[in-house]
Amino acid sequence: MQTETIDLDKQPVAEQSSSIDSVPVIDISELLIDSSAAASANAIDQIAQACQTWGFFQVINHGISNDQIADVWRETHALFALPAEEKQSILRSKDNPWGFYDNELTKNQRDKKEVFDFTREGVDPIYGQTNRWPQNHPAFKTTMMAYQDSCTRLSLKLLEGFCLGLDLPADFMRQDFADNHTGFVRLNYYPTKDPLAESSIEHQAIADLGIHHHTDAGALTVLLQDEVSGLQVYRDGYWYDIPTIEGAIVINTGDMMQVWSNDIYNAPIHRVLAMEARERYSIPFFFNPAASCTVSPLPSVIDEQNPSRYHGIEWGSFRGQRSDGDFADYGTEVQISQYRK
Ligand code: OGA
Ligand code: NI
Repeated sequence: MQTETIDLDKQPVAEQSSSIDSVPVIDISELLIDSSAAASANAIDQIAQACQTWGFFQVINHGISNDQIADVWRETHALFALPAEEKQSILRSKDNPWGFYDNELTKNQRDKKEVFDFTREGVDPIYGQTNRWPQNHPAFKTTMMAYQDSCTRLSLKLLEGFCLGLDLPADFMRQDFADNHTGFVRLNYYPTKDPLAESSIEHQAIADLGIHHHTDAGALTVLLQDEVSGLQVYRDGYWYDIPTIEGAIVINTGDMMQVWSNDIYNAPIHRVLAMEARERYSIPFFFNPAASCTVSPLPSVIDEQNPSRYHGIEWGSFRGQRSDGDFADYGTEVQISQYRK
């Protein structure tokens, strides 16, 4: 495990004076119709370019309706507004990561936020656990499951774009995701007040960021953010704000995409500032492969000049060790650098 020599969170925030200084906004309407058609080439090039530079981009004409997005925001606000006892009754635990939580640790430091995680219905293949839902709020579950389905459809389309961008057939990775993906949705609430500021437990009284810097573990993340900014990506010594754009959805690549692409794409380091003036909500969907999938560089990106840089990573065990936002500090987080050849 490499130790960081610089404190990333102390690096400066960039002045962003033009759109060139920011992550691209990509119209994916053609990609949704037929990713292999000539009309999609432009979007695929822009996605490939964004993944080689920022690791982040925003998509418009993404196929998720305004009505559905309004529903999911309404239910998200309602969940975090529930009385504390109701939230405590769906608390996640060491064995079962699904449910509500307000003491997230990223890089072993506490974050200033509340969280609710859920995945596909049934017993999940990594933890062997099922979702927790608030009692007597049936619309919450229905809305959330429908939104997860929409994110899955969008992610499968984006995956086609990633494959085409790496000179592979559009459906090359489909079998690792279509019926058996281990994606999940996280509802994030960043209050202005620190929910645990009064804590008497040592190391728990400081929460200086919304989320400490990290990379997402899986393939790609589909993120809805509200109009309150705070998300930043690290690039070449600076932190850059990801602007809030009405109607756009933020996409970023994760660690597994970096491995599949043999480092052509980088999983971007990102963080969320602590909210001071206004509270903020965000909703990432983490699109992850099947538990049994072994992730290693794809055939189109390796040859004699560019040998594979990684040993195969079993996704189920990687995710089990990483948890993408841990329940608590149970030791050092697993990183893809440990799998480097
Ligand atoms: C995350 C994350 C960004 C945001 O939950 O992994 O990076 O804007 N969220 O909340
Ligand atoms: Ni993240």
